[in-house]
Amino acid sequence: LFAGQSEFLKGVVAMSGLPPADRLEICFAGRSNVGKSSLINALTGTRGLARASNTPGRTQEINFFTQGPDLYLVDLPGYGFANAPLPVVEKWQRLLKQYLSGRPSLRRAFVLIDARHGVKPVDEEILSLLDRSAVTFQCVLTKADKVKEKERDRVLAQVRAALARHPAAYPEMVLTSSEKGDGIATLRSIIAGLA
Ligand code: GTP
Ligand code: MG
Repeated sequence: LFAGQSEFLKGVVAMSGLPPADRLEICFAGRSNVGKSSLINALTGTRGLARASNTPGRTQEINFFTQGPDLYLVDLPGYGFANAPLPVVEKWQRLLKQYLSGRPSLRRAFVLIDARHGVKPVDEEILSLLDRSAVTFQCVLTKADKVKEKERDRVLAQVRAALARHPAAYPEMVLTSSEKGDGIATLRSIIAGLA
């Protein structure tokens, strides 16, 4: 599944703009700056494919990337960034809700959580939204290279406890570092297993 080329297909701002639901599709959700774009770059092995930046909230559209002919990787707009105008936030919340509950080919949503910070109230909102949508979700802890073992174990326990409250959550988590490559092969095989 990950052998082929990856390319940016399009940025979508309305349901009508979605490409045909003709292949396996997975998406990445998470707070602004958690590392969604970096993870897509790491998974596809394509540096600079999804923009990764220090400016939070850059990715405002639902960005579709093709990975070979049989997979879409979808980069969702980051949530929780400060000082975004309310109408903008509401617009994408509505789109996100529609996408998560109305996309037949979407097999799993990966919710990215910073391994240093764990599940925050703003993450709870998306977890609850996912509970009410049709898709199974799985947590990916990011930036594993930035956290010491003891701190990591504390965060893992915190995330596990949070997930226990969400019926649509897949219990197994993946610890990743897009920087160092930890967990990337594991995540690839999880995705391949969905095909
Ligand atoms: P938005 O598009 O704004 O929602 O952000 P994003 O979730 O796509 O985050 P992005 O991938 O742009 O990463 C944000 C910052 O974190 C960048 O400076 C990345 O280089 C850094 N980063 C991402 N993943 C890792 C990681 O695994 N380790 C380390 N050390 N830094 C990372
Ligand atoms: Mg991004």
